[in-house]
Amino acid sequence: MVKAVVLGAAGGIGQPLSLLLKINPLVSELALYDIVNTPGVAVDLSHIATPAKVQGFLPPDDGLKKALTGADIVVIPAGIPRKPGMTRDDLFKINAGIVRDLATGIATTAPKAFVLVISNPVNSTVPIVAEVFKKNGVFDPKRIFGVTTLDVVRASTFVSEILGDLSLAPSVKVPVVGGHSGVTIIPLLSQSSHPLPTSFKAEALDALVNRIQFGGDEVVKAKDGAGSATLSMAYAGAEFAEKILRAVKGEKGIVAPTYVHLSADKAGGDAIKKEIGKDLDYFSAPVELGPEGVVKINSLGKVTEYEQKLIQAALPDLATNIEKGASFVDAPK
Ligand code: NAD
Ligand code: LMR
Repeated sequence: MVKAVVLGAAGGIGQPLSLLLKINPLVSELALYDIVNTPGVAVDLSHIATPAKVQGFLPPDDGLKKALTGADIVVIPAGIPRKPGMTRDDLFKINAGIVRDLATGIATTAPKAFVLVISNPVNSTVPIVAEVFKKNGVFDPKRIFGVTTLDVVRASTFVSEILGDLSLAPSVKVPVVGGHSGVTIIPLLSQSSHPLPTSFKAEALDALVNRIQFGGDEVVKAKDGAGSATLSMAYAGAEFAEKILRAVKGEKGIVAPTYVHLSADKAGGDAIKKEIGKDLDYFSAPVELGPEGVVKINSLGKVTEYEQKLIQAALPDLATNIEKGASFVDAPK
C-alpha cells in the first residue's frame, strides 16, 4: 500500500502529475492538496479505472494535515512559475514561504515520507525543506530530493535529435549533475550512453550544453507569459517518483541524478566534494536508491576538462543559492 501526496495538485504540473500517479499501479492512495480546485480535480481523476483511491483537500479544516496523514511519498510542485525575463531565483520571494509552510506540514505529519521538491528555485527550496525538517528534529537527508529529472529527460531528447533518431530518446542516458538552474545544470555528455558523432564540433557541443542548461527558458519563451514547463515536468516528476517507488519495493540498482544533501551518503558525498573541489552541502549527483531512500551517492565518473570547467562555472551560483535557502527558515520574517 503506497500513499502518494501532491502538494500544488491543481496547477499546471500538479494536474498531469496527479494523472500519471493515478495510473501508476504502485500507488494505492492519492491525496491532492492545493489552495484551490482540488475537489474537482480529485473527482475527475477518481473516475479513471485504476486502483488508486483519490481524494482532494483544501486548506480549511486541516486539509494539509489530512492530505499528508499516512503519506509515503510527497511531491511538491506548489508555487509560481516563471514568466519571460525572470530567473528561477526571482521566484524565491514567493515560493520560499510556500515551500517552508508545506515542509512544516510534512515534518509534523509525515516525517518519514520521501519528499520530492519540484518548486523552483530547486537549488534553494531543497535546503529550505531540509532546514524545516532539522528544526522539527526529523531531518533525514536520505529522504529529501530535488527533482532534476527534467534536465536528464531534455538531455536524452536533444542528444537523440542530434543523432537524427528520436526513437532513441528513451534509451539515451546522459548524467546531468550540479543543480537546477542555468549554468548549475551540468550535462556530462562525454558519458552519454550514445556518444555524439565524431564529427561533432566544439561550437556544436557548446550549443547543445547551452540548450540543456537553458531548456527551461526555451519553454518559458514559447509559452509567452503562460508559465513554464508543465507537461514535460509532470512526465519527469512521475518518472522519478516511479524510481523511488520501485526502489522502495526492493528493486536493486536504480540510479538517478537528483539534488541531495551530501550527508545522505557521507563517503559518497565527501568524494563528490573532492571531485568538484568545493565543500558544498548540496549537489545533484547520480544517486542509487533503495527502500530507505539514498543508498549511495555515486562518483561523477571520468569528466573531461571541458566538463570540469562547467562544474567550476556552476559552483559560485550553487553556493549562493544553497546559502539563500538554508538561511531563509531562521531569517526574521
Ligand atoms: P502553476 O501556477 O500552474 O501551479 C502551481 C500551483 O501551486 C497552483 O495550483 C497554486 O494554487 C498552487 N499553490 C500555490 N500556493 C500553494 C500553497 N501554499 N499550497 C498548495 N498549493 C499552492 O505552476 P506550475 O507550472 O505547476 O509550476 C509550479 C512550480 O514548479 C514552479 O515553481 C515552477 O518553477 C516549478 N517547476 C520546476 C521544474 C523542475 O524541473 N524542478 C520544472 C517546471 C516547473
Ligand atoms: C524548467 O526547467 O523547465 C523549470 O525549472 C521551469 C523553469 O522555470 O524553467
